[in-house]
Amino acid sequence: MKITAFNGSPRGRRSNTGIMVSEFLQGAEKAGARTEQIFLSGKKIGHCKGCFNCWIATPGQCVLKDDMTELLEKVLASDLIIMATPLYVDGVTAMMKGFMDRLIPLADPHFEQDDKGGWRHLRRYEHNPEIMVISNSGMPGREHFQVLELHFRRMARNFHSTVVAEIYRDSGELLKNQVLILKPIISKYKRNLRKAGEEFVSSGSISAETITKLEKPLISGEMYIKEANKHWDRQLAKLRN
Ligand SMILES: Cc1cc2nc3c(=O)[nH]c(=O)nc-3n(C[C@H](O)[C@H](O)[C@H](O)COP(=O)(O)O)c2cc1C
Repeated sequence: MKITAFNGSPRGRRSNTGIMVSEFLQGAEKAGARTEQIFLSGKKIGHCKGCFNCWIATPGQCVLKDDMTELLEKVLASDLIIMATPLYVDGVTAMMKGFMDRLIPLADPHFEQDDKGGWRHLRRYEHNPEIMVISNSGMPGREHFQVLELHFRRMARNFHSTVVAEIYRDSGELLKNQVLILKPIISKYKRNLRKAGEEFVSSGSISAETITKLEKPLISGEMYIKEANKHWDRQLAKLRN
């Protein structure tokens, strides 16, 4: 199985998203997958111009000549793509959205109805990779990912694909926290991410038990907010002094 993760965090290699993806991919590799994490922050990806040349003049090929040419090939060569993004304004980052818009050469312009009667594009290629979503948010609470869940389901439907797994981590800023008391909690969480990777490659899904463990709050929401507010106060005080 070939798994390619596209990390849409502007923080790139220093991102919480990157921590989550790396651990998941480590587990996936242990179970026999070939994996790659691509940092969109290090790629040149122009905005889609909306010219539709990729549907008419040069079917399947974008007029923009940048890193997206290579990334489209990587998408098509994968069995699973991981759309990895921190939560920005309740959705994906601009970097991730720019990448998503540039996937449009993979679709055929014509329309058809899906089995529920909704309209979507025809597929251009026989094989489209399955989709997995990995995200983390600054705030505590699973509900923050509602928009993301729906967005990727709608996108997958249009690309004749399926969202086969999702890992959402609220209070994601804890992942890099060096406070001693948190270390065993974070280590356990990372172990579960590796387990999820192994499970996915060996069985095609992540067990409900592992998902429950991965969604368990790392600390209580109240405690997180209290510490986060103290952190912001300290940062602001530094500026005043
Ligand atoms: C522009 C911007 C918008 C954000 N919007 C949200 C948001 O809507 N909800 C939330 O919980 N966190 C939000 N965050 C916080 C990030 O999701 C959080 O810092 C996350 O841990 C960053 O992950 P990364 O290190 O992978 O980039 C936002 C951060 C930025 C910079």
